Amino acid sequence: MNYFLTDEQKTIKELARKIAEERILPVRAELDENEEFPTEIIKEIGSSDLFRIFVPEEYEGLGYGCLELCLVMEELSRVCSGVAICFAASALGSYTLMDHGSEELKRKYLPDIAAGTRLAAFALTESTAGSDASAIRTTAEKVEGGYLLNGTKQFITNGGIADIYTIIALTDKSKGARGASALIVEKDTPGFTFGKKEKKLGIRASSTTELVFRNCLVPEENVIGKPGMGFIMAMKLLDKSRPGVGAQALGIAQGALEAAYDYVHDRVQFGTPLLNQPVVQNMLAEMATQVEAARALIYASARFVDSGAKNITESSAMAKIFASDVAMKVATDAVQLCGGAGYMKDYPMEKMMRDAKITQIYEGSNQVLRDAVAAELRKRKARTE
Ligand code: CAA
Repeated sequence: MNYFLTDEQKTIKELARKIAEERILPVRAELDENEEFPTEIIKEIGSSDLFRIFVPEEYEGLGYGCLELCLVMEELSRVCSGVAICFAASALGSYTLMDHGSEELKRKYLPDIAAGTRLAAFALTESTAGSDASAIRTTAEKVEGGYLLNGTKQFITNGGIADIYTIIALTDKSKGARGASALIVEKDTPGFTFGKKEKKLGIRASSTTELVFRNCLVPEENVIGKPGMGFIMAMKLLDKSRPGVGAQALGIAQGALEAAYDYVHDRVQFGTPLLNQPVVQNMLAEMATQVEAARALIYASARFVDSGAKNITESSAMAKIFASDVAMKVATDAVQLCGGAGYMKDYPMEKMMRDAKITQIYEGSNQVLRDAVAAELRKRKARTE
């Protein structure tokens, strides 16, 4: 289908595909097997200027939007979503700063993030606060010279690797979600260490760790925006970033579809390629239809984000839910189509199936996001009553 991408958007997509095929494809199985962070590939993505796409021009970025980020995520994830998420987590860790930070903070951090020489990360989740994100316990107590951070963040993508962390912490415990603030914390700040490094089912090239804060003094000027607005900023950030998770899922689904097609094209059973079996054709047609529907919804929701619309909660949630469910289904069907071979690590389908699962879980589980969609439906209905 033609999505009427501009020439610049096509160039960005082609560049991401080239990096994925030339640099990531040859090593993706090894990175997955060894749970190895793709340091050299991330440097190359940086020198190809792809980190610049999500940073405004005045901070040495290229000033593109959500759609361009989705195009890069789709192409990187078509080959390896474990590598892709290392890239995207830097965008997630930067958006709050870009959207709400002081001029001084933006000038200090964004040019390096745009160059890809320093990675960013975002930290909201804690052991007590997953879907119930407002149940965070990490505190940032106002003291002379800044805020004293105490607490532990869990499951943080780019943990231990990123240099710049956006942390959501309670500056006023008594106010719940309205007492949270967002703060920038640099990697080597005294009192900031890394805890457990997670061993994961999928996206194993990415680093996922705890962040541990023990009397970690953060300068007052590192607070992003207004104290007390941290939770709302985090929710707005996630509304904006969810099409990107959907694009990650879309890329996985596309990669799995292509890998399955190649296999059934070459695999002869009962004297003919599997591709000639109507049941196989039926499955491929269903998979291709689902992938295209996911692409249409991802691009539309990303364009809606880029339009500057305020009411993006529902469309972003729908795009993420739909594309991630498609990725899980299509990757599982890809394994099925390839039979015993699909189950083995010699082929990429099993990795894609493992990688797909997290897209149904992170940046809002599909269950909690369905709640959010239903809440929007109820609000709309109430307005017409
Ligand atoms: N935009 C703006 N404001 C929002 C909002 C949104 N999308 N959603 C909620 N809010 C506001 C509400 O208006 C409310 O404000 P007031 O205090 O003024 O009333 C406040 O936030 C609390 O809202 P709720 O009462 O609806 O919130 P809740 O306590 O019931 O929590 C929820 C529900 C946290 C929104 C939950 O539905 C949710 O989205 N959970 C998912 C959390 C999540 O996505 N975590 C991802 C972690 S990051 C990650 O995964 C990244 C990674 O590693 C790669």
